[in-house]
Amino acid sequence: MRFDVVTLFPEIFSGYLDQGLLKKAIDRSLVNIQLHDLRAWSTDKHQKVDDRPFGGGPGMVLQVQPVIDCVEHVQKLEKTPSQVIMLTPQGKPLDQPLVEQLADQPRQILLCGRYEGFDQRVIDLLDPLEISIGDYILNGGEVAAMVVIDAVSRLVPGVVGSAESVEADSFTTGLLDGPQYTRPAEYRGWSVPETLMSGDHSAIAQWRRREALRRT
Ligand code: ADE
Repeated sequence: MRFDVVTLFPEIFSGYLDQGLLKKAIDRSLVNIQLHDLRAWSTDKHQKVDDRPFGGGPGMVLQVQPVIDCVEHVQKLEKTPSQVIMLTPQGKPLDQPLVEQLADQPRQILLCGRYEGFDQRVIDLLDPLEISIGDYILNGGEVAAMVVIDAVSRLVPGVVGSAESVEADSFTTGLLDGPQYTRPAEYRGWSVPETLMSGDHSAIAQWRRREALRRT
């Protein structure tokens, strides 16, 4: 699975991608993440990529030229067909079925906005799939892009240790996970439910299902 991320802040991603399951997935070439600095595509002598909105109003708008030049370059880097995704608060809400759809495709180009958003012609020309990670406004699309990468990568075979744990995920089963406990069996007078300690596998399965239904 390949992700190309177009951003003004590529450094934001490095700490996140250098840890845990994603780092392992990258090291094992299960996931390939390429970061592209949008500013490199500015033709302005100060490397400006934004400007004031026509008609007035607050904030700045990302200009069409650097974004289109950058995306066209990125598209040509690989033969694998790609889908362009734009992270925006007005996009389609990200949920597990959408994550599954994205995981079915080999390559995604993720466009991270900043400021007041993109010049509308970016959208008209690229016809991206606009995705929102929730009804709130972030400072930019970078955190949202990381959420997409994280959730989609989990579905790439081999990224998560056991396929069972992905299959048992809340949202994939349609049920939220029930409570989990580990040692010690008692902490400050709070004990682990007896059924879980009983060794009776069918009673444990029943208890887990009941708890999952209750939470859902
Ligand atoms: N950019 C700014 N806010 C966002 C959100 N809620 N989801 C995705 N991208 C965004």
